[in-house]
Amino acid sequence: MAKVRKAVLPVAGLGTRVLPATKVTPKEMLPVFDRPALQYVIDEARAAGIEHFVFVTGRNKSAIEDYFDQAFELEAMLERAGKTETLKELQTHVPVAGACSFVRQQSPLGLGHAVWCARDIIGDEPFAVLLPDMIMVSDPPCMAQLTAAHARTGGNLISVEQVPREDVSKYGVVDVGEFTDGQAPVRGLVEKPKVEDAPSNLVISGRYILEPEIFDLLERQQAGAGGEIQLTDAMATLIDTRPFHAVEFTGRTYDTGSKLGYLKAFMALALESESHGADAARLIRDAARDL
Ligand code: G1P
Repeated sequence: MAKVRKAVLPVAGLGTRVLPATKVTPKEMLPVFDRPALQYVIDEARAAGIEHFVFVTGRNKSAIEDYFDQAFELEAMLERAGKTETLKELQTHVPVAGACSFVRQQSPLGLGHAVWCARDIIGDEPFAVLLPDMIMVSDPPCMAQLTAAHARTGGNLISVEQVPREDVSKYGVVDVGEFTDGQAPVRGLVEKPKVEDAPSNLVISGRYILEPEIFDLLERQQAGAGGEIQLTDAMATLIDTRPFHAVEFTGRTYDTGSKLGYLKAFMALALESESHGADAARLIRDAARDL
């Protein structure tokens, strides 16, 4: 089975649900406790053995490119100041030279279009997609679960999780067969259905492994839900062509794409910090008590 080496990170979104915070700062660069949201997602991809990151960007996103580069002045200053721990940490966050590619989506035509923009860099091999709004916490990490499943079955894979029935219209919803060892064959996929039309309350949670033939489908894909070219619609046409599995994710998912989701992610990741978690818990309790 071909190894999954490359990942697509669609980071062109304008973050309108988090304005004004995202007016000049890319939403993916907003700090979630002590690091940008995107750092958690890149760490998850690296833990799954991903070696090359394709960022599908847009205007006002140059901070992402700078973040995944060396910061010579800063590093020299930390060295001079003897802050070797901080320096080491900073350096571990930078992928090796040549491991990041950046392509522009140019127009916000939808997630399917964003993924299609990465086609030339991905080439003819299976690849991962990680939606950076979603920070997913588990051991092993979500993408590592997907790459392990891909090594067993090949084909297309998505992570899915249960949400309350009334929330399904915000997501891609799956119709699946029986689960065996946390994995089930996908029978149908629909993007943002009405609650009464949804085949289940299992939704696509933002991690995918896709075979490269998706690119031909995306090239011809008509606009779907919300007038956008949907990745879900292209995936739906792949179901009968080769294995397509859903892997149920049982860890914690934080959606940083809305104000309250961002707040929850920030608090949760602070609480999970080994060095600051206990103090963070005290601060959060105090802050709530003072209201
Ligand atoms: C996208 C996908 C959807 C998925 C969701 C997860 O939607 O199109 O299938 O369930 O991410 O967050 P978006 O949140 O971009 O509207």
